[in-house]
Amino acid sequence: MAQEIIIAGLVGSLRHESHTRRAVRIALEGAAESGAVTRLVDLRDYELPFCNGDRTASLPEVVRLRHDVGSGNGLILGTPEYHGGYSGVLKNAIDLMGFDEFEGKILGLVGVSGGSMGALQALQGLRVIGRALHAWVIPQQASIPMAYQELAQDSPAREAYEQRLREVGRQVARFAALHSSPEAIEFLRAWEEAPSNPGGED
Ligand SMILES: Cc1cc2nc3c(=O)[nH]c(=O)nc-3n(C[C@H](O)[C@H](O)[C@H](O)COP(=O)(O)O)c2cc1C
Repeated sequence: MAQEIIIAGLVGSLRHESHTRRAVRIALEGAAESGAVTRLVDLRDYELPFCNGDRTASLPEVVRLRHDVGSGNGLILGTPEYHGGYSGVLKNAIDLMGFDEFEGKILGLVGVSGGSMGALQALQGLRVIGRALHAWVIPQQASIPMAYQELAQDSPAREAYEQRLREVGRQVARFAALHSSPEAIEFLRAWEEAPSNPGGED
């Protein structure tokens, strides 16, 4: 990679032995394999308030979170499946941020679940949130069902799941690099300045 690309991985579980944290770490390994500088953003390390839609953005711990996430060229969001969706702590953290941290960023999604259906509903929800924040959510994602079992050292499936997690990280890093290239920036500038209906009548 010619220029430095930073990929931040946001851990959406506060649990001590969290499988989400492990999944995000593995995805970040993939990003590092593609040449990116990686940063784990673990919500356990922040004393975050609940978003009340009013003035929380300027609180010191929120400013720190916004800096740590916002300085990434690409982001990996990790979530457990909680009652058919993503975790509340992740959503609260996202709500404490906004376009400044997400708009135009490449976003990769990884999720874990305790049950056999995986974290697909959580990831689907995050995909919608990524769109709302004008992020570029990559099609590749990793959902790890029964993470307590499938990510265990003696699991026959562990290597395949780890590969999938790493691939999300690799792709986020590569797309973030492409997206930051001078050609891409010029294309995006032209796109933003283009008339809304070229060739059409006023
Ligand atoms: C509040 C709560 C809700 C959960 N809901 C689901 C669920 O809907 N489906 C599922 O498969 N697992 C569910 N689980 C299990 C978690 O997905 C599983 O324990 C996962 O490993 C938690 O992530 P973590 O290890 O990163 O903390 C739930 C766990 C909790 C605490």
